[in-house]
Amino acid sequence: MTGTQRRKAADAWAFRTRVEHEAAARFSRLATEISRFDPLSPVPALMRRAAEDEHRHATLCAGLAAAYGTPATASANEVPIAPRALGARAAVLYEVVAACCITETESVATLTSLLAEEIDPGVEKVLRAIARDEVVHGRMGWAHLAREAARYDVSFLSSWIPEMLSGSVEETLFSHLDATPEDRDLLRHGVLPPSQKRTIFARTLEEVVVPGLEQFGIDGSPARAWLCARIR
Ligand SMILES: [Fe+2]
Ligand SMILES: [Fe+2]
Repeated sequence: MTGTQRRKAADAWAFRTRVEHEAAARFSRLATEISRFDPLSPVPALMRRAAEDEHRHATLCAGLAAAYGTPATASANEVPIAPRALGARAAVLYEVVAACCITETESVATLTSLLAEEIDPGVEKVLRAIARDEVVHGRMGWAHLAREAARYDVSFLSSWIPEMLSGSVEETLFSHLDATPEDRDLLRHGVLPPSQKRTIFARTLEEVVVPGLEQFGIDGSPARAWLCARIR
């Protein structure tokens, strides 16, 4: 492994550490907000457990970042991501769909693809531990969406999906200006080449996320148009 590769692996794991810390804070906050308007929902308890999972993931990721040479930084600050135009309850639904139905579902797909590769044993252990939890975190989002859809029309989310998608992927992922070289050697350290990352993201969106949303009457056309504009 060259010095540059070590640095890239360390940066990727340090970035994931921040993402995990942010997810922990977001889930704790959403748990409190949901229990306010839906006190009988089982989702807040799941969210609190998920927040604990994310703290554990952050520790695992920070351990790898340190092993590749970058000590973990302090936890990131988490901010609500819903647009101001939405009312309080719709804003929570926006965040749950973005963070769980989209981000966690995409995360599971990425982890599953990585685990199909030949991975360094230390990295593989971390990926397996995280993947197991993220499956549950995705389901928790679909469960909240189902509860809300049973009470009111959630089709308004359709036009917000592109914004959620832009927020959930790293800005460079679909940029054709992205000059990140494809380095397949980094795969064994848990870093996917950008082209593979794009393919997984697109396929999961088309085959899992959009059909899932459509079950609740959320039109998938804006999401498909968003993707089309980026993969051509
Ligand atoms: Fe996580
Ligand atoms: Fe998660």
